[in-house]
Amino acid sequence: EIKDIVAREVIDSRGNPTVEVEVITKGKGYGSAIVPSGASTGTHEALELRDKEQRFGGKGVLMAVENVNSIIKPEIIGYDARMQREIDNIMIELDGTPNKSKLGANAILAVSLAVAKAAASTAKIPLYKYLGGFNSFVMPVPMMNVINGGKHAGNDLDLQEFMIMPVGALSISEAVRMGSEVYHVLKKVIEEKYGKNAINVGDEGGFAPPLKTSREALDLLTESVKKAGYECGEDIVFALDAAASEFYKDGYYHVEGKKLNREELLNYYKALVEEYPIVSIEDPFHEEDFEGFTIITKELDIQIVGDDIFVTNVERLRKGIEMKAGNALLLKVNQIGTLSEAIDAANLAFRNGYGVIVSHRSGETEDTTIADLAVALNSGQIKTGAPARGERTAKYNQLIRIEQELGITKYAGKKFRCPF
Ligand code: PGA
Ligand code: ZN
Repeated sequence: EIKDIVAREVIDSRGNPTVEVEVITKGKGYGSAIVPSGASTGTHEALELRDKEQRFGGKGVLMAVENVNSIIKPEIIGYDARMQREIDNIMIELDGTPNKSKLGANAILAVSLAVAKAAASTAKIPLYKYLGGFNSFVMPVPMMNVINGGKHAGNDLDLQEFMIMPVGALSISEAVRMGSEVYHVLKKVIEEKYGKNAINVGDEGGFAPPLKTSREALDLLTESVKKAGYECGEDIVFALDAAASEFYKDGYYHVEGKKLNREELLNYYKALVEEYPIVSIEDPFHEEDFEGFTIITKELDIQIVGDDIFVTNVERLRKGIEMKAGNALLLKVNQIGTLSEAIDAANLAFRNGYGVIVSHRSGETEDTTIADLAVALNSGQIKTGAPARGERTAKYNQLIRIEQELGITKYAGKKFRCPF
């Protein structure tokens, strides 16, 4: 039974304020959660409530904190913390808007996640087991964003994320080691080619060298994987997040100094997939172009991931499924605002043969909920940045802990999209 709820304003990895909530139960359970925040956000995401006053450059979250303390808390106290769906529904009704703009998705999500953790803690079981049961044993393949571009970096790369996936590992701890080894070789390779100013990192811990083209980035990855002693395309494969809404303006995609239409951009991706071992592309087209997603899913035999287009929303995902737009869902709990709704989206994806990638945001914190969620869902994939910077490594370290605790696990490896 929930005894107390405490909310406060803390800061995220970009130094921006965000909401932390603690939930305490009568059975001596305790759960706390901090919500993350995106930079290249989808238009249809649930609303992050910001104060718009002077403090924190207009980004304060005191209103969201106050909504937890004075509106949500009195309605939730006394409930059994295991009643996740009821509690989430109460908050959805209290808010009453389609995008959680009255109370703020940041207020609602912080409570939703902290309630789940408090329930797990009361029952004295780890979060992944509380959420997933005894059938949760798949360790996800990490998509490690080692070269940052787009809105996450101060360089000219149009595509946002250049990721490595250690599919040839046998465990998550080995995958983290392989990723970390490549990351350090990459640092050396970048320094030799572009000088020491080029090894500064972007928002997600990846390097942000002064590159202009995707090929330059992919060549750096290829060289680093080989120099680290791994077989490119076998041990380690590549994934991209284009985040195309960010370079779509006036009906064209602005890439590498050119104005491309949908077909030309498709051909650009096709050429990259032919040249490099790219197994996954996220948001290849802008967030309203379901048709473009359908075409690329049909024409390229790889994983096509919907992030800004689906925004972890079952209605938008359902439309995507009907149109065969994409074949994987990027799952971001703060895009929808409650744990129950995020799990609904994951289940809808699984039922329809879509892959699920549990994901961080570019603005993160020490909160590790998504590591547990990835294991709970047997998602087979997690996207949580480079193997560097505390807010990213917190998730990798949590996965390593879970793997050790479980003992017998199955690393998704090459079957990352459908681990079963
Ligand atoms: P965001 O980026 O958190 O800034 O939205 C992550 C992504 O696009 O996947
Ligand atoms: Zn994305």
